[in-house]
Amino acid sequence: MRISEEIIKEIIDKADIVNIISSRIKIDKKGKDYIGLCPFHNDNNPSLSVSPAKKIYKCFSCGAGGNVINFVKEFDHISFMEALKIVGKTVDIEIDTDQKVDQNMLRYHSLMEEVTKFYSVYLTSTNEGQKALAYLKKRNIDENIIKRFKIGLSSFDNDLLYREFKDKYSEIDLINTGMIRSTQEGSKYFDVFKGRIMFPLADFDGYIVGFSGRIYEKSDESKYMNSFDNVIFNKSNILFNYKEALNDIKKLNFVYVFEGFMDVIAAYRAGINNSVATMGTAFTNEQIRAIKKITNNIILCYDGDLAGVEATKKTINLLNSFNINVRIVLLPEGNDPDDYLNQYGVNNFVSYLENNTMSAFDYLYKIYKRTLNIEDINSILSFKNKIFDVLASYKSDMLNEIAFKRMSDDISLNTDVIKEDYLKHFSKTTYRTQIPEFRKPAAHKTVKKRQKQQYLLCEKKLIFLAYQNKDKCAEIFRKLSFNYVNETHYLILSKFNNYYKTSQKIEERQLKEILTDKELEVFNSIINQKLTFRNDQDIDFFVNKINEYINELYWYRKKTANKDIDVEKYLKDLGSKIKTRNDIK
Ligand code: UTP
Ligand code: MN
Repeated sequence: MRISEEIIKEIIDKADIVNIISSRIKIDKKGKDYIGLCPFHNDNNPSLSVSPAKKIYKCFSCGAGGNVINFVKEFDHISFMEALKIVGKTVDIEIDTDQKVDQNMLRYHSLMEEVTKFYSVYLTSTNEGQKALAYLKKRNIDENIIKRFKIGLSSFDNDLLYREFKDKYSEIDLINTGMIRSTQEGSKYFDVFKGRIMFPLADFDGYIVGFSGRIYEKSDESKYMNSFDNVIFNKSNILFNYKEALNDIKKLNFVYVFEGFMDVIAAYRAGINNSVATMGTAFTNEQIRAIKKITNNIILCYDGDLAGVEATKKTINLLNSFNINVRIVLLPEGNDPDDYLNQYGVNNFVSYLENNTMSAFDYLYKIYKRTLNIEDINSILSFKNKIFDVLASYKSDMLNEIAFKRMSDDISLNTDVIKEDYLKHFSKTTYRTQIPEFRKPAAHKTVKKRQKQQYLLCEKKLIFLAYQNKDKCAEIFRKLSFNYVNETHYLILSKFNNYYKTSQKIEERQLKEILTDKELEVFNSIINQKLTFRNDQDIDFFVNKINEYINELYWYRKKTANKDIDVEKYLKDLGSKIKTRNDIK
């Protein structure tokens, strides 16, 4: 839809520029105009001036300036149309941008369908395809499976897909859907996926919106490459096999959640179709909501390695907060479901899943017991504290009794002693059974401060926002989904969140009761840092950054599980990625 100049002019004329800008930054009246700190550069003296008469803003220091729509566009980091829509709302003028989007979607969906077909023909009827087919065969993926999951192949050619599609679709469409990219000057186009076995990825409605491509010959490139987030593809909104599995999930009223889509394919080979997989990211709220629509029962079946265990622990917490019943399959160390199936066959695979599913508590107990060494007092105490923390989150007297009994067997102590210790563990007295531990320096703790600083800053800003406002606090806590960079930061946030459950506001004098001394110290240093903000939109931005950090770190650890890790270099690379936005310094 094209918006006429008149409508834009009318919106600018009618809109209250002072009101709109002052809801985003602090401005003070000075004569006929208003002044404030400019949000578009690092401003110390107020150099931004807003003129209600002329309906413009101008920064005398950095030169930023324009009408109210420009301000919202720049400040909110959105498109002109979106800004127009927001400002239009304030003066009751509806701007309908949806229609255009829908038209585009139809085209994008058919484009992706055709690309999928093209890849699948390329797999089955070319010489190049023969090698890829041989690889798939080695992995027990036959013709039926290839058809069912619409598996295909991208050629090693630089621009085969582009040449094939350029007459039917515009370059913009192919770029928007993440299928091609251009050189910097935009004079040439290249395919994004080259020489990979292609697995189409569908959204919750079943439309193919992206691909994951796997290498099938020795290569230095990463094993899988996924579509980058674009107009139709959003990694955190994808559950592999969701639409196809929908009916089976409903019928059986539970879903298996795997870490890799190869595991979903493995399960399918074994006759199990009520399963989905995330795309190399931690579980997101959107994905959980999509599952919750069809079932309330999830069986998590993550890899048996350390990263898989860590991911499982986090996911348990997350799912508990959504009131979802979660059970866990603990795989033998070093196995993923696909490995297990190939090694032991269909029958063993199916019966393993059936017989090794346990409650989240049993799983956690097992995991913590793995590292328990009853010859070592530190190990016993740390085991005990971990179990206490888990018990505290369930608040069930019966579970407590069962657990105390189990612990009593495992650490050879009287149940009453354990029980008494449990009660004291959470009392407000200074009683603590901590004995200082000798820890091996964890790899990620040796990282230079500067490199993590940017992520920590995001977290600090969130704490600041959460402190000021109850609703924001809840929003932040929900959106973080148990992810954090710094544990103390996380504890502060969760304590604020808890406190807000019974009060509207956090008074400064109450901080002492809410936080421990250490947390209070950290909190005070955050408050004293004079952080700068743009507006509420920042919550999503900061949360995304933190999630990005967690995900990347998670995959990094996984990839380097048994190798020497150059964590410093890794985090430095990661850190340089987010320098793009100037207020995160
Ligand atoms: P895994 O490394 O467990 O892969 O990653 P996998 O499922 O066992 O695959 P195979 O058996 O080696 O072929 C699990 C998921 O993480 C994402 C992919 O979505 C994958 O399904 N991932 C993994 C990536 O995005 N990039 C990678 O380099 C690796
Ligand atoms: Mn695998």
